[in-house]
Amino acid sequence: MGARLAVRDVSLHFGGVKVLEDVGFTVDDGQILGLVGPNGAGKTSLFNCVSGHYRPSAGSITIDDVEIIGSSPARLARHGLARTFQHPALQLHDTVLENVLLGAHGRLPGGPVEWALRLPRTTRTEKQLRAEALDLLERNGLGWAARTRADELSHGLHKGIELCRALLMRPRLLLLDEPAAGLPHGEVEQLIASVRRVRDEGITVVIVEHNMGLISAVTDRVVVLDHGRKLMEGTAAEAQADPRVIEAYIGKDAADDAA
Ligand SMILES: Nc1ncnc2c1ncn2[C@@H]1O[C@H](COP(=O)(O)OP(=O)(O)OP(=O)(O)O)[C@@H](O)[C@H]1O
Ligand SMILES: [Mg+2]
Repeated sequence: MGARLAVRDVSLHFGGVKVLEDVGFTVDDGQILGLVGPNGAGKTSLFNCVSGHYRPSAGSITIDDVEIIGSSPARLARHGLARTFQHPALQLHDTVLENVLLGAHGRLPGGPVEWALRLPRTTRTEKQLRAEALDLLERNGLGWAARTRADELSHGLHKGIELCRALLMRPRLLLLDEPAAGLPHGEVEQLIASVRRVRDEGITVVIVEHNMGLISAVTDRVVVLDHGRKLMEGTAAEAQADPRVIEAYIGKDAADDAA
């Protein structure tokens, strides 16, 4: 059995700007990989390549050994890929529950006509999906907010809503882009528990995050990017102790001072 996700020699150029250069790594089934690096390193761009939002200039990306470059985001979502965004795009005037239910789109039976006619099969499925969405909100600490309008909640909670929406898609591979950004310190523990449970349910996770506490707590391995290139790969502890990583984050002079 191959890797769930394999990124090989991926480059992404916009005109003369080299956003990614020959990046490669694999993620095995059921693992959590951290993707870290300074601002502008190319982390979100790499996610955009994996989710079909960007098309790499070179390289290969496979999910379960199937080449996915050229597939649309919608097609990849139907085949088990879900992601959250660094800047969540929610329907702000809708409730939290309605926002989560948007993740059920690909799981509805029949076509739009059947859905519009509200045939019995559809309403039964709708009820099941609603129950499942509520359950996900409960388990991720957001049950209390199900009927609150999204615009009444903080950025940090929007991230949790997006996580529930992604999970309602029942993905096999989940990409999380800075899920802890904007979360109050006390709620990072809840997020750690959520990510671990997701993995225990058999979902493979790639997580972009600046919060090293979260990265250390949940990841099996990390890949460090800097200026579009892979700097190193190892455990979170190895990455944090690596002089190249320290230098990338704080600059060479400061790294020398710290040594
Ligand atoms: N569509 C695009 N066109 C041109 N340049 C782009 C595009 N998308 C990303 N970039 C550039 O690619 C580089 C990497 O950006 P990216 O958002 O991937 O970084 P990041 O590692 O996610 O950073 P952060 O931690 O701040 O979110 C930046 O210099 C950015 O300006
Ligand atoms: Mg980013």
